[in-house]
Parts: sequence; C-alpha cells; structure tokens
Amino acid sequence: MYRISQLGELVGLSRTTLLYYEKLGLINGKRMDNGYRAYSDMDLQRLRLIQQLQSGGLTLKECKACLEAKVERQILAERLKQLDQEIAQKQQSRDLLAALLGEKPLTDWHEMLDKVAPDAHIDWLIKQGFSETDAQRLRWLSKDMNTHDTYMADFYRIFDVLERRGPGSKADTLTALGKVPIDAKTILEIGCGLGIATRLLAEQSSAQITAIDNDQEAINELQAKFDDYADKVRFECASMTDLPFTEQSFDLIWSEGSAYIMGVNNAFKQWRNLLKDGGVLVVSDLVWATDKPSEASQLFWSSEYPDMTTVSERIAQAKSAGYQVVDTFPISDAAWDEYYRPLALQVAAVKAEMPNSQAVKDIERELENYAQRNQQFDYQMFILVKA
Ligand SMILES: C[S@@+](CC[C@H](N)C(=O)[O-])C[C@H]1O[C@@H](n2cnc3c(N)ncnc32)[C@H](O)[C@@H]1O
Repeated sequence: MYRISQLGELVGLSRTTLLYYEKLGLINGKRMDNGYRAYSDMDLQRLRLIQQLQSGGLTLKECKACLEAKVERQILAERLKQLDQEIAQKQQSRDLLAALLGEKPLTDWHEMLDKVAPDAHIDWLIKQGFSETDAQRLRWLSKDMNTHDTYMADFYRIFDVLERRGPGSKADTLTALGKVPIDAKTILEIGCGLGIATRLLAEQSSAQITAIDNDQEAINELQAKFDDYADKVRFECASMTDLPFTEQSFDLIWSEGSAYIMGVNNAFKQWRNLLKDGGVLVVSDLVWATDKPSEASQLFWSSEYPDMTTVSERIAQAKSAGYQVVDTFPISDAAWDEYYRPLALQVAAVKAEMPNSQAVKDIERELENYAQRNQQFDYQMFILVKA
C-alpha cells in the first residue's frame, strides 16, 4: 500500500492532481484507521496506464472510458492517426539532426529541408554565399558546396550554347496558348529563360508582356534581342519568389519549366494573387506518368526533383489553391528531344576537355535517365483559371 505522497513520487504527480483523479474515480484510495489514505498497486498501475494513454493524446475522460472498457473505437482510431502523424514528424526531425551531425548524407538534409521549409532552405544557401540563381540550382542538385564554383562554371559551359533550358517546343507552347479561354491584355511570364515562349506570346497576342527571370545576363541579352517588340515586351530581372507587382495585375501568367524552382504548389498559391479575377495561369511541370516507375527512374528523380508528383496530385493542389482546370496535356516526345538531343551532343563535344567534371557526370546521369524515359514521366502543361 502507498501513502498519497509515495504514490505521487512514483508517478510524478502532485497530491492535488491525485486527489482530483480520485474525485473522477480514476483511482480509489482507502481511508486507514490512522486517517491517512492508502493506495494499492492497482491504483499505481491505473495511473501508469492513464499516463501512457494521455501521452497518446487521450483526454482524462477518454482515459476513464478506456479503463472501464467503454471507449469508442472511433475516438481511439482518430488518436492513433494523430499519433502516427506526430511520430512521422519526430522521425523527420530526428533525421534532420542526424544529417546535421553528419550521420546521414548532406543530400538528405537538403532534400528534407526543401520539403519542410523550401524558402528557408534557399535563404540558408544564400547565407552560405551562393547567388540566388545558384542557390536555386543547388537546391535540386544538393552537391558538395566546396566545389560549387567549378561545378557552376562547367554547368554554364555546357548550357550556354544550347537553345533551350528545359524540355519544350514552340508547337506545345502554341497548343497551350490556344487553350487559354480569355483574350489576355496583360501577360506576366515567369522564368522566361532565353525568351522562346516570350516571342511566341508577343507574336500571337495583343497583350502587353512583362517577362522576368533572375538571370541578369539573360535579361540583358533578351532586351537586345527583342528590339522589334520594344513597345510590347518589357524584361525585368526579378525573383519569382518575390515579384515586384501589385495584386491583380495580370490576365495571364505564363511559366514553362520554371515553377518547380520555388515549388509548383507554392507557385500556384503565391502567383494567384497577381492574377485578375478570371485570370489564367499556364504552368508546365515534370510529373510521373505511371504509378509504377522503374527503380532507377525513381531513384534518379527522388534526388533531382524530390517534389515531383502526378498530374492528379498537381490538379488537386491547383484546385485547393483556388483554380479550376481548363485543360492539361503532356508535351510531345519531340519537345523532349528538342532539349535532350542538343544537350547530349554538347556533352559529347566538351567532355574530353572537362575530365572529372562532376557537372558532366550529373548531366550524363540525367541523359541516361532520359534514355530510359519510356513514357514513365511527362512534362505536363496545366492551363488553370482563377476560380
Ligand atoms: C528551366 S529554365 C526554363 C526557361 C524557359 N521558361 C524555358 O522553358 O525554356 C528555368 C529558368 O528560371 C530562371 N530562374 C531560376 N531561378 C529563378 C528565380 N528565383 N526567379 C526567376 N527566375 C528564375 C532561370 O534563370 C531559367 O531561365
């Protein structure tokens, strides 16, 4: 038998709490001849059980019902689900700390941080001395920080001569434009790159176009290249994560192969504010085209594009961000080739001059992955209207 003070010590609860529990009928002390209350082993066990149930998320009332075998299964099922979520979160925090301590590869740390806090991840990379463009790239590449200068130099050497920065084709851009259900008077293009879509938008619409990219050099070149459309197209160096425009400024926002940089779902949410009511967002994104991708493909994209998902998941995200889906379609196989064929040729041409280049190795890995695409992944166009 235990006195109340002994019982309190054993379970770490105060006398007041125990008396309250007694009042609720959770424990049952017996008054002894000497006037003290005494508690049995059964009381001790009940208290230990209550504590476990409480840390599983049950209220005192639910604990009592549990002890009396009267608890509703539905309540237990709900608590179990919550508990599973908490455990998963704790596991994630544990992995994060383990990666920081060097017990897991740093790549895991980047991937994890990117999932939980993409903006903080970018901020952190910038604080490490990366330009925003490089930080955005590193975000996906998660490479060894110490070699990043060489890495970037090699990367630009390969890409600078190419006409495209990602899969896509003029025909697919025009198909998407044909599906836009409004006559846009103002267009914002985000991540305009080399201006391929920009030119088509200028040719095919009567809109005033603002095209932004955070690559100042590319913007300078575009300004010169678009002399003929100077009254219609304005280029600006800006970051897609911090766009210098007021709400409801545009009828149409266009972003091919770029939204992934800040996270497509994030882009859906943030860019919506810039659209006028009934405005349209056109975004393209890399998606899984099958439920059963090959292991190799899964492995490749899980590190290169951890946020990659399916068309139906992106549609669900777009709907919950406040859009209706006008249409969606995968870009053609030819559009993939337009990007990867010249890239393969360029790598083959410069490879010998860049021995041991990690950038070359990474691009070759990407080319290998593309060679096994076999309809496993698509570049999907989404035409969405602000609901
Ligand atoms: C894969 S390319 C796509 C370019 C073009 N839309 C196309 O389809 O060819 C991604 C573009 O996003 C730009 N970019 C990267 N980070 C950015 C940011 N934070 N804000 C704006 N543009 C960014 C890059 O400079 C690059 O031009």
